[in-house]
Amino acid sequence: MKIYLDTANLDEIRELADLIDGVTTNPSLVAKEGRPFWDLLAEICRLVPGPVSAEVAALDVEGMVRQARELAKVADNVVIKIPMGLAGVRATKRLAAEGISTNVTLVFSPTQALLAAKAGATYVSPFVGRIDDRAGDGMELVAQILEIYSNYGFATQLIVASVRHVRHVVEAALLGAPIATVPYRVVRQLFDHPLTDLGIERFLADWKRAAG
Ligand code: G3P
Repeated sequence: MKIYLDTANLDEIRELADLIDGVTTNPSLVAKEGRPFWDLLAEICRLVPGPVSAEVAALDVEGMVRQARELAKVADNVVIKIPMGLAGVRATKRLAAEGISTNVTLVFSPTQALLAAKAGATYVSPFVGRIDDRAGDGMELVAQILEIYSNYGFATQLIVASVRHVRHVVEAALLGAPIATVPYRVVRQLFDHPLTDLGIERFLADWKRAAG
């Protein structure tokens, strides 16, 4: 499973750039950084060789397509995040015909994911954490989308998004999701285990004793 970093923070990206497979941003993550969007995006694309998702702000088809074309000029690895909906699906279809990569975002149902794939989306992002927040089952949606995509041989890749904790990452991997986009705090936790720390501590103490 590929792991993308879900952030627009340059320090976080720099620290993990060699170990991650891509980056996803959204307007809320970009706003937290307090830097001009276009400079920030260009810098992220320089740091990460893999795909970098950047979201359009327009809500109409023409506006989305126009903004997508501009964003696509920033770097070869830019992927255009398009919000799900009638306009979003139309824009995705237009962009697919132009060879521009898209990530249909804010997906909360299997039919939304089906329509995004039919329109030629490169990626689709179901938001598992936001579903779980409302007592739903985000991973059930992931399983449904994976089954639908497999039934019809869609090339669209599923990105498990809105990841809240390590368990989401484990469940995504068990379901065979191709990609999870994970916040920095959770990515760091993936490396750690208290028994690993304890084991290192003991080995070190024994090594010192053995070495006299
Ligand atoms: O990539 C989309 C995802 O970051 C949304 O996450 O935590 O705002 O639900 P969250």
